[in-house]
Amino acid sequence: MAPRVLFCYIVFLLQCCQAMTSSSCDPISQYPKFGKCCDKCPPGTYMSSECAERNTSGCQPCGPDRYQSEWNMLEHCHLHKTCSNNGGFVVEKAGTSTSNTICQCQFGKHCVNKDCEICEENTVCIPGYGVVYKEEAENFIIPICEKCEAGYYSNVSSNLEACRKWSNCGLLKMIADGTTTKDVECGTPEPLSKVGLVVGIVFLSGVLLLILLTFFIHSGYNQENRTKVRNMFTRLMRCTGKIQMPIQELTENGRILATAGDEDKSPEVMTELMPV
Ligand SMILES: *[C@@H]1O[C@H](CO)[C@@H](O)[C@H](O)[C@H]1NC(C)=O
Repeated sequence: MAPRVLFCYIVFLLQCCQAMTSSSCDPISQYPKFGKCCDKCPPGTYMSSECAERNTSGCQPCGPDRYQSEWNMLEHCHLHKTCSNNGGFVVEKAGTSTSNTICQCQFGKHCVNKDCEICEENTVCIPGYGVVYKEEAENFIIPICEKCEAGYYSNVSSNLEACRKWSNCGLLKMIADGTTTKDVECGTPEPLSKVGLVVGIVFLSGVLLLILLTFFIHSGYNQENRTKVRNMFTRLMRCTGKIQMPIQELTENGRILATAGDEDKSPEVMTELMPV
């Protein structure tokens, strides 16, 4: 009696196991049949023939203008949605074998309701008002006209444009204040102030002095160079016509080296004056 009970128990266990294996098919890509796991058809295909005891499932690719986005056991693929021109739609994203077509409203139009059954023209906002997108309900946005805030203007009638920010005149002078329908008016640049001019001249003089100093240090501070530079300086002064006085320089022993009147003599001539 005991071995028979044991046999029954083992058979029962085996049947349990089989039932468990068949019910543990992958829930996305498989389904149980004939006590085994049969394949579903992948996205982009439909099921042309079901699995049999000895055969696997047959799958065929979706035809043109059709799609199937999920693992399936369907006998055909779905037809792509068409974006009706009369309904105010335009294709946002073309459909593929695995995805449906996505439609959107034509430029300047918006959905009438959350399901977007049809698109209607945006209202035109008059000058002083701009287009603002308002969330009517979750994921349902419609354009409305709102009066331009302070600092913003709209000078056009438009069903798309928002109010624009007034211009920033920056360094330019503001000629006229802005309004809700008109931008701020900016003028031409203000003339350079006298203080600015003086600062500029002082700065340029400093740069010039620095260049001269560099020249001195670079070429060595000797008598010959001093004379050269003085001649250059004198010519500059003559040129500007500010100074007509002769400029003299004395050597250590009191002799006059050169005067402003010497500028037409060559430096070679002047070196003859120098004490040897
Ligand atoms: C509106 O303002 C802009 C920028 O100031 C200007 O270019 C445009 O001509 C204006 N349009 C009208 C219709 O006044």
